[in-house]
Amino acid sequence: MPAALSIEEEILDLKKRRNALILAHHYQEDEIQELADHIGDSLELSRKAQQSKSEVIVFCGVVFMGETAKLLSPSSIVVVPDMKAGCSLVDSCPADQVRAVKRKHPDHVVVSYINTSAAVKAESDIICTSRNAVDVVNSIPKEKPILFLPDINLGNYVKKQTGRENMMIWQGACIVHATFVAKRLEKAKFEHPNALVAAHPECPGDVLAQADFIGSTSAIIDWCVAQNDATEIIVMTESGVSHSLHKRAPGKRFYFVPNDNCNCSECPYMKMNTLEKLRDCLDKLEPRIELPADMMERARLPIERMLAIR
Ligand code: 13P
Ligand code: SF4
Repeated sequence: MPAALSIEEEILDLKKRRNALILAHHYQEDEIQELADHIGDSLELSRKAQQSKSEVIVFCGVVFMGETAKLLSPSSIVVVPDMKAGCSLVDSCPADQVRAVKRKHPDHVVVSYINTSAAVKAESDIICTSRNAVDVVNSIPKEKPILFLPDINLGNYVKKQTGRENMMIWQGACIVHATFVAKRLEKAKFEHPNALVAAHPECPGDVLAQADFIGSTSAIIDWCVAQNDATEIIVMTESGVSHSLHKRAPGKRFYFVPNDNCNCSECPYMKMNTLEKLRDCLDKLEPRIELPADMMERARLPIERMLAIR
């Protein structure tokens, strides 16, 4: 009797039979990242989805990322391991509330973080990610007022970097990054006095003020790898990035500071995905991302505007 396949072998076998591309965000569990065709931040994975020639895209991340993949690769079947893998930023920003604010401020250019629903993207003029938000805002004429959705910390960071005064910022926050506390970072710096600090721009301003580098997940990883003189780095983002950090910089030590919410640095939504759910979605091609055609048309345009910039 042939030996039973391991779950990893089952996934690779199904992936081949389905002609599927597996995309995984840096916050996925190590074993999922190991099986992915591409690991990346939200901007990199959007580009991979746009370039994809595969019949099926499996997006191991959270649902708004799967939606973005569907918008950029509409002829592909896009599946996600768990449709309940949401995001607190998406939840903070319902499309009807966005429409109400737009009615009051019709002159504002709506810049939406990619961490929004497809319905909110459809209400937006341009999308940004944590990697290109400063460039996206700088691409808008100085005299135009901006409505920035939905992350207050990223919005404040971008406002500071660009010197834009006329920027209204939504009050949403990431349950992981927004609950990192400056005092805990100070303590970590005291315990590791030689360590540099890298932080994601979704962190509060008083955490970012202590950072040597601020950037997206992939930008943080690239920066940590490139710091030839630093052997210790405190990393203020989700601990899933440790997978690439340890692979690419095995001689360095990385410290993660627990946040005030879960006393860890893990995104509970990202961690809903498992190898079993990945196998099952490849097998059944469910749950599938399906969006109304008119919403897709409207939501794709502001993403394409972003991709044309950077
Ligand atoms: P990145 O743009 O760095 O991938 O961040 C996405 C995200 O959800 C951060 O919490
Ligand atoms: Fe959303 Fe925060 Fe999780 Fe990123 S880490 S998916 S912003 S809840």
